[in-house]
Amino acid sequence: MPGPKLRLQGVAKEFTAPRTPKRTLAVTGVDLSVETGEFVCVVGPSGCGKSTVLNMIAGLDMPSAGTIEINGVPVRGPGADRGVMFQDYALFPWLTVEENIGFGLRNGTPGDGLSRGEVEARVREHVELVRLAGSEAKYPHQLSGGMRQRVALARLLANGPEVLLMDEPLGALDAQTRLILQTELLRIWGETAPRDARKTAVFITHDIEEAVFLADRVVVMSRHPGRVRAVIPVDLARPRDEHIRATPRFGQLAEEIWGLIRTEAYEAIA
Ligand SMILES: Nc1ncnc2c1ncn2[C@@H]1O[C@H](COP(=O)(O)OP(=O)(O)OP(=O)(O)O)[C@@H](O)[C@H]1O
Ligand SMILES: [Mg+2]
Repeated sequence: MPGPKLRLQGVAKEFTAPRTPKRTLAVTGVDLSVETGEFVCVVGPSGCGKSTVLNMIAGLDMPSAGTIEINGVPVRGPGADRGVMFQDYALFPWLTVEENIGFGLRNGTPGDGLSRGEVEARVREHVELVRLAGSEAKYPHQLSGGMRQRVALARLLANGPEVLLMDEPLGALDAQTRLILQTELLRIWGETAPRDARKTAVFITHDIEEAVFLADRVVVMSRHPGRVRAVIPVDLARPRDEHIRATPRFGQLAEEIWGLIRTEAYEAIA
């Protein structure tokens, strides 16, 4: 039987401040396995190390202890098998929507082995996937926040990663746009596709209801130092639509998760 797509074992990260002996143990003892096609959300109070963990999976930072593996192979740096998306739009302001989406394919390893025509077709497909047909020639400053995050998502997916790593990607959007993009994200992730045709996703959010709506499992972290406090399976059927938010089970799950982080969340802002 093949192993998990992503496996963290005993992962710790200690930061040392420059020119001082001060050390911060940001996270410790993080164990987590994510299966192919699984959507995992990570929640926890501010400063509990969510971004630290995601950055290590992305290969942007290395663990101080423990191992991170993708398909059983240790992560040693960034790679085309993983795609990262952050809260700030991180689009190239001088490139159009179409050029932003095609950037990795035209300039990086994701386009290796593809003909020009195949690259064009892949870009076109992703413009349509995020429903931006008609806006291809616009520049980021001409787009709404929601449209910009669609571009960022299309760029991420066009590069064909196996694992999607998202750090509060909807965090800067207004509440209504955010709800719409949550549904869109599930469609794009492949909610109606068989499990092994879906991407593997790790998604950080502060929004507990967002986590319940999106996830197969919610990882709840606690702080000082950051650890995995609990992993809550979300037993809501897929495909999910907006009405699921009004169901008793949805409310129970959100309440259970909030109960796990309430005290620390108050401490974090005190
Ligand atoms: N490059 C760094 N150097 C030193 N300390 C860091 C660095 N990055 C993060 N930290 C510390 O590690 C801890 C975890 O930070 P991290 O950004 O991972 O938390 P988070 O859970 O993503 O928080 P938030 O919800 O506010 O985004 C914090 O105490 C933070 O100050
Ligand atoms: Mg963070």
